[in-house]
Amino acid sequence: MTPKEQIEALRKELHQHNYNYYVLNQPTISDYEFDMKMHELQDLETFYPQFADPNSPTQRVGSDLNQQFSQVAHKYPMLSLANTYNETDVREFYDRVKNGLEGEEFEIVAEMKYDGLSISLTYIDGKLTQAVTRGDGVKGDDVTANVRTIRSIPLQLREGSGYPHEFEIRGEILMPWTSFEALNAEREAKEEPLFANPRNAASGTLKSQKSELVASRKLDAYLYYLLVPEDSQKEVETTQPDLFGMQMDLFSEPAVPIFNSHYESLILAENWGFKISQGMKKCKTIDEILDFINYWDVERKNLPVATDGIVLKVNSLRQQRHLGYTAKSPRWAIAYKFKAERACTRLNEVTYQVGRTGAITPVANMNPVQLAGTTVKRASLHNADIINELDLHIGDMVYVEKGGEIIPKVVGVDVSQRTEDLEKVEFIKICPECGTPLVRYEGEAAHYCPNDTGCAPQIKGKIEHFISRKAMNIETLGPETVDDYYNRGLIHDIADLYTLNILKITGGNINRRISAENVIKGINKSLGVPFERVVYAIGIRFVGETTAKLLARKFKTMDSLASATQEQLLEVDGVGDVIADSVIQYFANDKNKDIIYRLKDAGVVMQMSEEELAGHTDKLEGQSIVISGVFEHHSRDEYKAMIEKNGGKNVGSISAKTSFILAGDNMGPAKLEKAQKLGIRIMNEEEFLELLK
Ligand code: IVH
Repeated sequence: MTPKEQIEALRKELHQHNYNYYVLNQPTISDYEFDMKMHELQDLETFYPQFADPNSPTQRVGSDLNQQFSQVAHKYPMLSLANTYNETDVREFYDRVKNGLEGEEFEIVAEMKYDGLSISLTYIDGKLTQAVTRGDGVKGDDVTANVRTIRSIPLQLREGSGYPHEFEIRGEILMPWTSFEALNAEREAKEEPLFANPRNAASGTLKSQKSELVASRKLDAYLYYLLVPEDSQKEVETTQPDLFGMQMDLFSEPAVPIFNSHYESLILAENWGFKISQGMKKCKTIDEILDFINYWDVERKNLPVATDGIVLKVNSLRQQRHLGYTAKSPRWAIAYKFKAERACTRLNEVTYQVGRTGAITPVANMNPVQLAGTTVKRASLHNADIINELDLHIGDMVYVEKGGEIIPKVVGVDVSQRTEDLEKVEFIKICPECGTPLVRYEGEAAHYCPNDTGCAPQIKGKIEHFISRKAMNIETLGPETVDDYYNRGLIHDIADLYTLNILKITGGNINRRISAENVIKGINKSLGVPFERVVYAIGIRFVGETTAKLLARKFKTMDSLASATQEQLLEVDGVGDVIADSVIQYFANDKNKDIIYRLKDAGVVMQMSEEELAGHTDKLEGQSIVISGVFEHHSRDEYKAMIEKNGGKNVGSISAKTSFILAGDNMGPAKLEKAQKLGIRIMNEEEFLELLK
């Protein structure tokens, strides 16, 4: 065998073993043997780089190169489905289909609705060539390198399985429950923020710049929608009018279709090497559909990945075409969403957490209970009003539900199980950390500890905020070090960070020297952080990243921000009475004045730089601008930055307040209609650039 043949044979064999292992769950060789073969292939590829192939099984390990995602327009828009939440809605869908098909017989395919992130994969000649996220439905991020690391996505389709020359297949990328829990446990140990659910974890992972990291996170994928362009299916007969300004000729009748129904298409895909929906079933009657839904509502808890409903699709492609689309979604499909899972368990204790802002969060500590795939023993109680509304007693049997957040919430009490001796939960009156009496501000639900300069979690929280990535970005410090320095009395506020030196940090311990040097390096580096981030970093209550940016641009120096009047502050977009008051209060506080003074003294940037000021105009001051479509001269982000630099505001959706729309190609028809209805000006790229000249 020539080296080339040897490489090809090994690749083929390894693709097959991958498939056996990750798709069929039936490995035929040991992990060790697999690794040996993989190494052999890696060695050969290193030796003969001329035979490199991005679809080689060796590429699954990823690389640590940083990547920037480019945006790719979808060949066919990625639509979403209409949601339904109850049996009546499902019956109505069934009846609508029945009426729409005028008495013709039909089948509905029922399948899992996977709760991950959608992906569109393109294959040419059996090889994965591109993987694009849903994005805004019209275009998404090219995440091909990352997707190649997902073992259940075939890089090379199974030979002789009859795949067409070119096609697109869509599905969901997921992080299995086991990987999710392991990942969060690891992050908890490192005091890193946890992912709220496997969907966020999968999405965060897939958008990672390092495919090596993606490879280590063990993602999975299920495919549910196959699109084969007509020319790959032989001749073209008719074409349909285009939808959303995009070619939808796919939906016309191919002369020699390789499949006529959705069910068939997925069975084909399965044969080519893809994982498809578990339990997919063809249903004829509404009862069969409802039985399927009820069965999987319970059984899905045993699946390895998260599901949040059932998708129902008309099986026949001809009938799908007949039913067509509404402005947003197909009329031939619908998503039924499962009710949020709820568990019942005993409330043992209510504890209170003090946040960075001094806000007090009551937390229910309960007997551990299984809920939506994870074990839950703590749940949020939000605030005193909620506790009162629930009339909560220690020892109550409480219902917990999971929303989109990490911490589940208590949603009710099973009063029938309450005994006489239980004690009512009374919200605390003093701060559990520093003993200061709590206050409740006008119009706010939360209680606060007002001792913001003397209460440990507030001080540590402020320092953690100050060093965080979007603030001063002092990467060499973390929550643990902050905790340590605070406990050792080295730092009491953010300005103290700049008084640290190697001797103070090491306390004379030579083993700590290298890490201390690093810390100092990181702190010194923060002296280059631009003014707008300093405004964010000092932690004025209610001043988030965006407001900080706007304040910095308007007032240009810390001194003028500190002496701004209520009236001047209110001129800033998005600043209302609450934020204005908060800014004024911050700078009225002597302790804060002292901190700012010491930060300035240490060399922290206290004004906008010349470069930042240059190029900034107020040409778009007070204007709300919507960006829509695909552009030629600049990227969407660049346009966004231009709008902000010139004093305008980029907003997501069109309303009567929209000043104008900066429109590229393929602006969505719904947006267009809305703009026309409201009489909002549509400006093209050239006009916009001319305006800013
Ligand atoms: S079909 C035109 N099938 O749910 C039909 N979608 O709003 C395209 N999803 O964005 C979608 N499981 O990400 C389909 N079995 C399934 C699905 C599924 C999950 C997601 C998908 C889509 C959303 C629907």
